[in-house]
Amino acid sequence: MKTNKKVTPTVIVIFGGTGDLAKRKLIPAFYNLFIENWMPENFAIYGLGRTELSDDEYRENLHEGLVDFSRSGAPDDGQWNKFKQSLHYFTSNINDEKSYTELLKKVEACDDDWGVRANRLFYLSVSPRFIESSTQNISGSGLACDKTKDRIIIEKPFGYDKASAVELNQMLTKTFDEEQIFRIDHYLGKETVQNILAFRFANTLFEPLWNRNYIDSVQITVAEEVGVEDRGGYYEGAGALRDMIQNHLLQILCMVAMEPPASFDAEEIRSRKYDALKAIRRIKPEEVHHYAVRGQYGEGWIKGEKVPGYRDENGVDKKSNTETYAAIKFYLDNWRWQNVPFYLRTGKRMQEKTSSITIQFKPVPHASFPATQVDSIKPNRLTINIQPQMDIRLRFMTKRTGLEMNLNPSEMIFDYDTGSKQTPEAYETLLLDAMVGDTTLFMRSDQIEEAWDVISTIQEAWENRDSLDFPDYPAGSWGPETAEALIARNGHVWAVNKHTKDKK
Ligand code: BG6
Repeated sequence: MKTNKKVTPTVIVIFGGTGDLAKRKLIPAFYNLFIENWMPENFAIYGLGRTELSDDEYRENLHEGLVDFSRSGAPDDGQWNKFKQSLHYFTSNINDEKSYTELLKKVEACDDDWGVRANRLFYLSVSPRFIESSTQNISGSGLACDKTKDRIIIEKPFGYDKASAVELNQMLTKTFDEEQIFRIDHYLGKETVQNILAFRFANTLFEPLWNRNYIDSVQITVAEEVGVEDRGGYYEGAGALRDMIQNHLLQILCMVAMEPPASFDAEEIRSRKYDALKAIRRIKPEEVHHYAVRGQYGEGWIKGEKVPGYRDENGVDKKSNTETYAAIKFYLDNWRWQNVPFYLRTGKRMQEKTSSITIQFKPVPHASFPATQVDSIKPNRLTINIQPQMDIRLRFMTKRTGLEMNLNPSEMIFDYDTGSKQTPEAYETLLLDAMVGDTTLFMRSDQIEEAWDVISTIQEAWENRDSLDFPDYPAGSWGPETAEALIARNGHVWAVNKHTKDKK
């Protein structure tokens, strides 16, 4: 992990330049890096797409994106006028070699202007079916001829299952070395997720307790209030397991479960995370129903508004078997985590948007308090709230002020400056890291393949057997009842949302 993030001249090429991601996330991220002086003096961004657009039309469209989606709000005119000079649009056909040779001329013209061979960053924000042809054309045209300066970023989904991910990795490594490939998982760029490394490995306090001797269970929840929005077509082929568990939730699990790295070197950190994935006990086909629960939302109410069920969303099959909710119990077979359940759950159209990690510690071995107080002793609990609430809370027992010995759970809270415009967006961190060539927060090929392997039996079981219960949770709830049963078998309950969790 680099601490000196000085970017040298760079040409950024966004395939899918007119897409939603470019408008909502990528350009706002580059703009914020620009106004905070992270961008180099010489840079150019080329958005690519099939639509005929002039530079000005393209810039106008992206300006709207900044107004609507940038954390810094509507851009200052002076800053925007400077920034937009570096923004260009290039009408092109992703499958046509000619487009790439023309692009090369534009990129080389930048080198000539700047008097230096600039770094080249190719961002593939396109459907997976275009990855092969675009990569081959980038390579064939000579656009990526310098292994030390040219890099490629690939958006998820990275493959569809383990076999397709292996194939994709093999294809990519024909053109790019592993150090040039940046497989993005935007959860790893979130401030609160990165902070797990600091929390665990920059303190003496927690690490000695971070194992099966003191930890009873771990919960990772990523609940969303939104439904599938306008992505029904994509989501039908993905579902919660592929869309969220295979990547975001398993990556968070790695941050919690990994062994301490010997150094903050990218390969070292990625290797320790790979070890964690490797240690996850594989669920046998006949055990899937015991360890994994799926759900699909029906119509319901969100914030007082009636919303449709999944099967009535655009682009969704009326008899869809796609899960919009998944909860899984994993175990890790290693010295540190033997017999500690890791519960992962994610769902769309849940009661509240909230992502958090809950580390539940074991109860005290002996409660020497008066019998009336023993029941009020709650086990220690550490909650890492990822979003939208951003804080770390440690629950511990205290004596209630007064003349009697009454026990009360209290909390120590580390609060990020929630809602502050200062907190960088995940894409800012990740794009900056990609520009300086730091792969720490990106997924290595072996991690991706291992993560697919972890979910493969669940994936097959769910695909091959239609759920007869769908839809099985109303929009605006906390998911299907079967998910409560999954965790109740071990005597646990979901540490729910911020309104109710303190009462548990
Ligand atoms: C994406 C998924 O990777 O993450 C979406 O494809 C999901 O379905 C999104 O909504 C959630 O990201 P965030 O940052 O809003 O929690």
